[in-house]
Amino acid sequence: MKSDGLWLFGYGSVIYRPGFDFVERRTATLRGWARRFSQKSDDHRGTPEFPGRVVTLVPEPSSHLKGVAFRLDPASAPSTLLALDHREKAGYERTIVDVTLEGGPITSATVYIAHRGNDWDAGHESHDAIVATIVRARGPSGTNVEYLFRLADALRSLGAHDPHVFALEAAARVALNR
Ligand code: BEZ
Repeated sequence: MKSDGLWLFGYGSVIYRPGFDFVERRTATLRGWARRFSQKSDDHRGTPEFPGRVVTLVPEPSSHLKGVAFRLDPASAPSTLLALDHREKAGYERTIVDVTLEGGPITSATVYIAHRGNDWDAGHESHDAIVATIVRARGPSGTNVEYLFRLADALRSLGAHDPHVFALEAAARVALNR
């Protein structure tokens, strides 16, 4: 297997809408972190007046999560990362982690994480509070609930078990009668 290039690990919208070219796409697992809807979005799924909620990763030593690792062509990787830096400028920073590729080795990968205490950190909110925001928020990239539903669908298609995301999805469906 060819393994040159840089791996980028996606765990949110990057799974279903990468928006960049890649040479290989593999389901992958990241250990020691959990996916949480604890980041405010005032530029994609909300507005400065009414920020939505999107995912980031929080450190949780006993947790793991599934996402997708994309192998980037070395020639285009720098411009891809610069474009993602701009797309994810609301609090996210490039971080290097180790991910386990499904059916393959552990490799180091770049991941965008909005760390605790960043300017868009929503802190620890109840599920009810997160859902109440998600069902109302919309921004330039679309409604917040579409983001939640597309992410939940994408995780199901990876065979991922994510109680946090699936509980929010179920509560949003009840709230919206969908
Ligand atoms: C992702 O899907 O990997 C992602 C999520 C939030 C910000 C940047 C990337």
